[in-house]
Amino acid sequence: MKIKLFDSTYYIGACDREKQLFENLFPIPSGIRYNSYFIDDEKTAVLDTADESVKREFFENLKSTAENKKIDYLVVHHAEPDHSSAVVELLDLHPETTFVTSETALKFLRNFSGRDFSGRAKVVKEGDVLSLGKNSLVFFAAPMVHWPEVMVSYNAHSKTLFSADAFGSFGATDGSLILSAKNDISSWDDEARRYYSNIVGRFGGNVKTLLKKVAALDVKRICPLHGNVFDGNIEYAVKKYTDWASYSPEENGVLIVYGSMYGNTKRAVDALSALLSERKIKSKMLDVSYTDISYIISECFRFDVLIFACPTYYGQIFPKMEYFLSNYKKTGITGRKIGFLENGTWAAAATKKMKDLLILSDEAYHFENITVNSSPDDFTITKIMKLSDDILKLYKK
Ligand code: FEO
Repeated sequence: MKIKLFDSTYYIGACDREKQLFENLFPIPSGIRYNSYFIDDEKTAVLDTADESVKREFFENLKSTAENKKIDYLVVHHAEPDHSSAVVELLDLHPETTFVTSETALKFLRNFSGRDFSGRAKVVKEGDVLSLGKNSLVFFAAPMVHWPEVMVSYNAHSKTLFSADAFGSFGATDGSLILSAKNDISSWDDEARRYYSNIVGRFGGNVKTLLKKVAALDVKRICPLHGNVFDGNIEYAVKKYTDWASYSPEENGVLIVYGSMYGNTKRAVDALSALLSERKIKSKMLDVSYTDISYIISECFRFDVLIFACPTYYGQIFPKMEYFLSNYKKTGITGRKIGFLENGTWAAAATKKMKDLLILSDEAYHFENITVNSSPDDFTITKIMKLSDDILKLYKK
């Protein structure tokens, strides 16, 4: 199908609505979009290919969009297989095509495919320009957003940033490929944050470097490799990315992450949530036993206060909580105010073990620890009440 985005830029990507786990890790209940683009000018260019699962749609879209034109360039911004699975086939089908990519991407693609395309490659680096006619692409290195070889490109003619994984999101869009001023832009947040925090979250410094480069450009449109295309709303997307890259919480509120074996730890955090609500403080509870950690990590990027609550298990941390915390730590997230609630029937040790695992500064451990002895009693409730008062004080400062 031929889908014109704007000017001489066309969409040739496709959605996978059947895949269950992205990277065989992250649940994608609303699917995923693999984006690729075609620029039709004096010279034509395909910008990135697609995942194996949507290769057929990619080639169909390319055929109906390019019609019988030759393809002068294939640009690969990112060599990860979810965007490069059709590279070999495209280059074999189109011997006229020059392959445009970074030195590192060329090496990665050789390793993935066993084919060496250096003989027909134009290797690009920061500042290089690919002229197509009235459109031209200027390349910028974006290492570790999300792999080391990543480049983004800017087309000054259409004021478009081809942003690779940056500004991408999970989810096959339900009907609105293009986010414009007419859309409810906040609908982008949750799956974009979950994508960012789990895929790129640990590389905040690299993302900040890219954002500085983007700030010097007049960007009116963003074409990422996943999720919606932005036509407008650029300030909104950049502000979200600025917050996420600097680990700044998006809003005041308490995320309570808990595990509970027999419901007693749950009763304690239910009490905390109710007391926070009484004090008009926003809170959200997520059960580590039933919530995929990608959703929990995403909410950690959103809220400023985090409470981790769980039973002691074999003198250690409740296993599901331990799994979550070890992944939380890998994101490198900082700047949250953290409190702990542990439960133990004979030797409560979960708080100490959680602190040993996280190894954060004392500053991060902002609140008095709470120990529940098997089930919450009046003394525990007094402690939980004090915790909610302390959180209230934080917001009243
Ligand atoms: Fe969507 Fe890093 O690939």
